[in-house]
Amino acid sequence: MRTLIIYYSRTGTTATIARSLANRLDADVREIGCGRYKGGLLRYLLAGYESVRGHLPEIDVTEFAAEQYDLVLIGTPIWTSHPALPVRTFLNRKPELPARVAVFLTHGGHSLPQTCIDELEELLPVPVEARLTFNSAQVSGGTFADDVNAFADELENRSGQ
Ligand SMILES: Cc1cc2nc3c(=O)[nH]c(=O)nc-3n(C[C@H](O)[C@H](O)[C@H](O)COP(=O)(O)O)c2cc1C
Repeated sequence: MRTLIIYYSRTGTTATIARSLANRLDADVREIGCGRYKGGLLRYLLAGYESVRGHLPEIDVTEFAAEQYDLVLIGTPIWTSHPALPVRTFLNRKPELPARVAVFLTHGGHSLPQTCIDELEELLPVPVEARLTFNSAQVSGGTFADDVNAFADELENRSGQ
């Protein structure tokens, strides 16, 4: 199963999950680059303000050939109940994706992930095959490996491997 992981992470939580999934699935990885929100409190506030307003930032993603992959995983933090703005920019560009797409999210535990998942499903051109969510405390506490492995098993079983 040739797998590509595409993710955005402002403070490293989603990146930790992306790396763990990549190791488990032997996947290629592309980070959605966006310097606009990196930094301290003012950048955090800017991210929240622009997330509510839906102001889409410039992003930087290395090209990838979707046809080379069976499955793409898209990872995002939740921002004001939405996918993080750089991921919204990425999906608004209508990237070419394979038929199999799954998503993973990290959040701070102060909103339900379903709103964000619904929005991702609306933005994506294909049905979402599987969804995985993590509280950031679970990630910083290092108790995510079982969930990552179960998710990877599920994806591999669906591909018949
Ligand atoms: C601008 C902003 C808005 C956020 N909004 C939410 C939210 O609505 N609900 C929630 O549970 N967490 C929210 N969070 C917390 C992040 O989703 C959480 O810390 C996430 O794991 C960060 O991922 P990262 O380290 O990969 O950037 C928000 C964080 C930021 C920066």
